[in-house]
Order: sequence, then structure tokens, then C-alpha cells
Amino acid sequence: MPFDKNILCIGAGYVGGPTMAMIAHKCPKYKVTVVDINPVKIAAWNSDTLPIFEPGLDEIVKKSRKKNLVFSTEIEQGIKEADIIFVSVNTPTKMFGVGNGMAADLQYWEKTARQILECAESPKIIIEKSTLPVKTAQAMERILTFNNKVHFDVLSNPEFMAEGTAINDLEYPGRVLIGSHQTPDGLKARDELVDIYTNWVPREKIITSGIWSSELSKLVSNAFLAQRISSINAISALCEKTESDVMEVAKAVGMDHRIGSQFLNASVGFGGSCFKKDILNLVYLCRHYGLYEVADYWEGVVKINEYQKERFVMNMSNAMFNTLAGKKICLFGFAFKANTGDTRESPAIFISKRLVEEKAEVVITDPKALDNAKKDLKDQDDKVSYVEDPFAAASGCHAIAILTEWDLYKTLDFHKIYSSMTKPAFLFDGRNILDHQMLFEIGFNVYPVGKPALTHF
Ligand code: UDX
Ligand code: UDX
Repeated sequence: MPFDKNILCIGAGYVGGPTMAMIAHKCPKYKVTVVDINPVKIAAWNSDTLPIFEPGLDEIVKKSRKKNLVFSTEIEQGIKEADIIFVSVNTPTKMFGVGNGMAADLQYWEKTARQILECAESPKIIIEKSTLPVKTAQAMERILTFNNKVHFDVLSNPEFMAEGTAINDLEYPGRVLIGSHQTPDGLKARDELVDIYTNWVPREKIITSGIWSSELSKLVSNAFLAQRISSINAISALCEKTESDVMEVAKAVGMDHRIGSQFLNASVGFGGSCFKKDILNLVYLCRHYGLYEVADYWEGVVKINEYQKERFVMNMSNAMFNTLAGKKICLFGFAFKANTGDTRESPAIFISKRLVEEKAEVVITDPKALDNAKKDLKDQDDKVSYVEDPFAAASGCHAIAILTEWDLYKTLDFHKIYSSMTKPAFLFDGRNILDHQMLFEIGFNVYPVGKPALTHF
């Protein structure tokens, strides 16, 4: 049976894979092809073990692969056949030259645009899915239209899903944002994309805007979310000095409906591939336009996050008699958040390296992220070990630090864990997920974030 439309996605990562799986699942009339330069990743998408862990993903991928979802390395062929091309290649922070450590590295995006131009034989709609600095679409258009070979319309359609809840976020999005030029061609292309989403998203949730506003909205959304975490984390430091409880403060503050209760969990710091990268992008953009005060304001969000991670290590050191040398410390969780195996920018990376610097021995346990943890810490080999079972991991350790809020840690038998540890035993709850009074009664010296410590000294 011929398909109504051929949709292509370039980049089969955390964004491209799940997003296209959802489109294929919801739109059986479209053929959805996902291509990537990495053959190992494509082989994994075609196997029983997908390259990423995401609750609910396996089911829809496996169902749709039999019908209208294809994973392939044939990028050129894919471009030729496509009516609509989503681009979700990565845009990491640039680590060289101008903008080093701040600006987005757009080399993959530009290379992809050139490849589209080279292979395209018919008009196409090109959709920016990757998070990009404002005005990237303009640069892409200049490349795509320089020889007027075929007609391209460029749209911005940023992805707002969060890892760990990606499938639910994609199925029931709070909003879908589509940015386009306000020209007849731009609006026509926009409407084609609206038509794809209306297969399952209520029309009133699909919002449209100018293309630059759309690009900027994604950076600003992430900056606002991260800002809330840095705000509450900054207050957690004050709570620890004033014997107040950051959870009580967050509850009281969040019940004001103008503020709202979400994203007010004090923590060991935010991680993930987006927040830091996108804020640094925003900062770079502001400096580029000479808006130094604005740039400094947003940079503060990242600085507080670095401070929070370092503060966590210092709190450990202070609590454990000002030395971590030779002590065995078990990290419960390495993923940057629960329900994912992703460790990009995870606070656990920084904390592990700092603990090794302090000459501690680090034991890491995590239900999904140990493979990535091994890659992240490959240069620290002899000081770090990886143990899947949390009981075995904690055995003989001086301290446990909770770094990821996995549900399974909430129901562990901490009596059993305590009895196997070196005494005095310490527990640093970097996510405030455990019952601190209960742990204290078992015998632990307990150090939550932003709450008074419970100690036996
Ligand atoms: C990435 C960015 O981090 C995010 O900001 C953006 O919104 C979307 O792209 P993610 O999907 O999480 O998000 O990245 P990643 O999992 O690294 O996937 C990108 C994929 O693109 C990789 O599989 C990579 O092999 C592929 N790629 C990269 C190409 O196919 N071609 C290229 O030229 C470069
Ligand atoms: C984020 C955005 O939420 C999403 O809309 C965007 O598309 C991509 O970036 P993600 O990074 O996958 O998603 O996860 P998110 O749930 O936002 O968590 C980011 C980090 O903040 C995690 O390390 C998490 O543990 C931390 N966090 C979150 C807190 O420390 N406290 C909170 O209250 C919430």
C-alpha cells in the first residue's frame, strides 16, 4: 500500500528516535524513516535491545517497525524520497575556537543542510528539531537556497519532551510549537506540519509563531526550568545554615499558584544534555548582541549549579571529619535523573571525579546507567568500581550518596545495608527521597539537602 507521505528524520538519538516512533505510531498513513551516520546505533534500533532506555519506547518501536517505521544508514536515499525532513542531529557546546565552551557547535547541522541540498530532487519541508541558537534557520536557508535547485521551506519545531517521561510527553504534549516565516509558502509548510500533529494532538495545543520566536522559546523554556532548580538549590544552602527545611519552604512557596509547585526539588544539581548547553547558548547570544547584564544574569543559573555540586562534596568532607582519603563511598544512582540510562552532564560525573581527587574509593550502582558511567569515568579506572546490586555495592562502605531519585532506592532494606557498612555510617541524600528519621533511627548519620542533618555525634 503506498504511503500518503514520506517523513525522514536525520539523527537517531534521544530526540529523533522516540519522536519519530510516536509519529509512526500515531500516523499509519505516513512512512517514517530515521537515518543516522552511526551504523551501530541504527543496528541497535533494528534489534531487540534499543540504544536508549525509555519507559514505553520498546513497545511502540517494535509495533511500528513491522509497519511504517524504518531505521537506516541510507541518508542520501532517505533525502531523495522524503517530503518532510526533521533534523535532530546533535548540537553540542563548541569546544574550540570562537565561542569555546559556550556557543553551539553547528558543524553537524551545517553538514546535514549541505547534504540535503546535494541529494534533493524535489521540494521539501525542512524542520529543525534540534535545539539551536536563534537565527540558525536563516543560515540553513542561505545554504539550501544558494543555487535555487529545488524549493525548501524551513520550519522550527522544538521538542519539549523530557527523558524518562518521553513517551507520555510525546503522546500528550503540553504544547507543540511550530515556527515559520509569515509568507504564503512558510504558512503552507507550517500547515502541513500542523496536519501531522493533529493526528493525535488537540488543535488548541498546537501553537504557531514566527520562526525566530520559536527557536528562542526553546532556549528560554529550558533556561526558566533550570533557573527554578538553581533558585531552590541556592535557598537550600541558606536552609542548611538556618535550620530551616527546604522542602517545607518549597511547599509553601509552590502553593502560590502564580509560582506553581513543579521543579522546586532541591537536589545535588541539574544534569542532562540540554539545560547547561542551552543556557550557555543563551549567554553567548546575549554577549554577542552586547547585552552583558542579561548574559551575566543567566550565567548565574549555571554557576549556582556548579556551586551546588561542589557544595555537596564539601558537605561530605566536612561531615566525615574533613577527610575522604581512603574512604569508600557508594553512589546510589549515576543517571542524570530517574528512569533513564542517560548520564550526559550528570552531577554524578563531577562528584565521582571530585571524590577521586579527594582520594576516596568510589563504588557506583545504578539500575540502567552503569555502561554509560564506565565510559564517562574511563580515565579513573582503578579508583572506581561498578556494582549492579545496591546491597553488594554499599557493603564495607563508609558512606552512601543518593545521586539519582530511582524509586527502587526508596524501598531498600536499609537495616541490612547499615549492618554491612563501616561505622560510623553516613548517608548523604542528594535527592531528599528517603525517610531521614527512619535512617537516623537505624544508626546512619543523615545529611539531606537543605534540611538539618540528623547525627549521632
Ligand atoms: C541532540 C541535542 O543534544 C539536542 O539539543 C537537540 O535538540 C537534538 O539533538 P539528542 O537526540 O539527545 O539531542 O542527541 P544524540 O542522542 O546525540 O543524537 C544525535 C544523533 O545524530 C546521533 O545518533 C548522531 O550519530 C546523529 N548524527 C550526528 C548524524 O546522523 N549526522 C551527523 O552529522 C551528526
Ligand atoms: C529538559 C526539559 O524538561 C525538557 O522540556 C526539554 O525538552 C529537555 O530538557 P530533561 O533534561 O530530559 O528535560 O529532564 P528534566 O526532567 O528537565 O530534568 C533535568 C535535570 O534537572 C535532572 O538532572 C533533574 O534531576 C533535575 N531536577 C529537575 C532537579 O534537580 N529538581 C527538580 O525539581 C527538577
